[in-house]
Amino acid sequence: MSKNFKQDVLSRRTFAIISHPDAGKTTLTEKLLLFGGAIRDAGTVKGKKTGKYATSDWMEIEKQRGISVTSSVMQFDYQNARVNILDTPGHQDFSEDTYRTLTAVDSAVMIIDSAKGIEEQTLKLFKVCKMRGIPIFTFINKLDRQGKPPLELLAELEEVMGIESYPMNWPIGMGKEFLGIYDRFYKRIEQFRVEDTEKYIPLNEDGEIEGDHSIKQDSLYDQTLEEIMLLNEAGNEFSEEKINNGDLTPVFFGSALSNFGVQTFLETYLQFAPSPQARKSSMGEIDPLSEEFSGFIFKIQANMNPAHRDRIAFLRICSGKFERGMTVNLPRTGKQVKLAQSTQFMADDRSTVNEAVSGDIIGLYDPGFYQIGDTLTVSKNAFQYEKLPQFTPELFVKVTAKNVMKQKHFHKGIQQLVQEGAIQLYKTVKTEDYLLGAVGQLQFEVFEHRMRNEYNVEVIMEHVGSKIARWLVDEEVNENLSSGRSLLVEDRFGKKAFLFENEFALRWFQDKNPEVKLYNPMDEQ
Ligand code: G4P
Repeated sequence: MSKNFKQDVLSRRTFAIISHPDAGKTTLTEKLLLFGGAIRDAGTVKGKKTGKYATSDWMEIEKQRGISVTSSVMQFDYQNARVNILDTPGHQDFSEDTYRTLTAVDSAVMIIDSAKGIEEQTLKLFKVCKMRGIPIFTFINKLDRQGKPPLELLAELEEVMGIESYPMNWPIGMGKEFLGIYDRFYKRIEQFRVEDTEKYIPLNEDGEIEGDHSIKQDSLYDQTLEEIMLLNEAGNEFSEEKINNGDLTPVFFGSALSNFGVQTFLETYLQFAPSPQARKSSMGEIDPLSEEFSGFIFKIQANMNPAHRDRIAFLRICSGKFERGMTVNLPRTGKQVKLAQSTQFMADDRSTVNEAVSGDIIGLYDPGFYQIGDTLTVSKNAFQYEKLPQFTPELFVKVTAKNVMKQKHFHKGIQQLVQEGAIQLYKTVKTEDYLLGAVGQLQFEVFEHRMRNEYNVEVIMEHVGSKIARWLVDEEVNENLSSGRSLLVEDRFGKKAFLFENEFALRWFQDKNPEVKLYNPMDEQ
């Protein structure tokens, strides 16, 4: 193995930021990019509105698609590390997308608004990370405002999330009285709102300021020392092993907006965040330092650039080195693909990438070859990476084209948006109607909008309501069991499922037809 390759791989830090909308994800991302020199001005990251609540905001972003989508993967160098940040849509209706993105990271940064504590969407995403054993680093934001007492926030982390925490630093006051942070890791105090030359005050062996300093006159300083003593005596011990297993989260305090505590966070994070981790496959775990190139596609985005109508497949490299022009195998189809057009992403730009290694994310031009979850590899063994997690949709609509003459566009649009993972598609077995399944209502609205704007097709969507979808273990089934209350459908892979009207209909069906074995794919993840 060449020394450079190994060093390159070990320098990668690939992560996603998880948070509830408005906690400060966009602001923090932007500050990180500024430190990394990836952007020069604040205001460059415009992906934010995807996290807001109205479709109109999402559509607004669509107008600026080039920008919004390039910000879905951002790369920069800092010190000796190459950092890849993956953006995740903030809106819960797009949690499927987020869920898949989390399969492509090695760690996650969780932002918490100090006034709000742990919010619903954060908790949901946290659970996904925890389940997958992804190491989590916590940034408690907005200390320049009055928030919950820090000890209460830690207790919330441990009680609500069930994860141990280790504060790397600790706030001295907050809101108008925010003086700075007591840094347990770097053994210094970092002062808020002071000249750069005065920013850091070193601490002695006992964790106190040696000699005189005006901050010592403030009662908040004494209070902080007391709390630090409490943490030292009764708090958790720092453990890199626990961090790596996702059992302990290092906690940082700061204010993204004031750019306070962000650099300290970044530098400490880079020290402890894992480099690319091994990924499970049908051939066992694949070592990121193995020189045989491989990766998997976790996201497909069509029509990123309206001028070109292109489609990009996002690939997480899991082993080896990517070189533009290389030929790889696509085990799902058994075909070979030449990777001639590849893209790398910066916050405000995309550029051609010639080389990339394990841990990196590249965008591949997709003429319709790829599906979400596809493995690409140069290996002769046709192995596949672990299946990507799937959400069981709960909302359904029947969809048809308004104008029958537009059937061709209609099918093309549906097919592409389904491959992209934007929505799920089902066909009723008896009547061959198309049903769309989604996790959230907004997905339907975006589907309708994109069909109109990208494929020039008006669709009619008839509400079918919420359903409980259960797949059949055995494909052989009596089609006459299909009814309004238990509708037999086929998913896009040809697998059969029943859509039940409600829990009662599901139980009734199971009682009547015990020989029909059903399962929920989400139970297996
Ligand atoms: P998001 O991506 O997680 O949704 O959050 P975003 O960064 O957009 O931040 C949400 C709001 O919180 C923004 O204000 C932002 O300026 C503010 N904010 C972020 N970090 C801090 C912080 O450290 N302190 C304080 N006081 N506010 C912070 P907004 O008024 O909703 O938006 P904007 O008009 O400023 O863009």
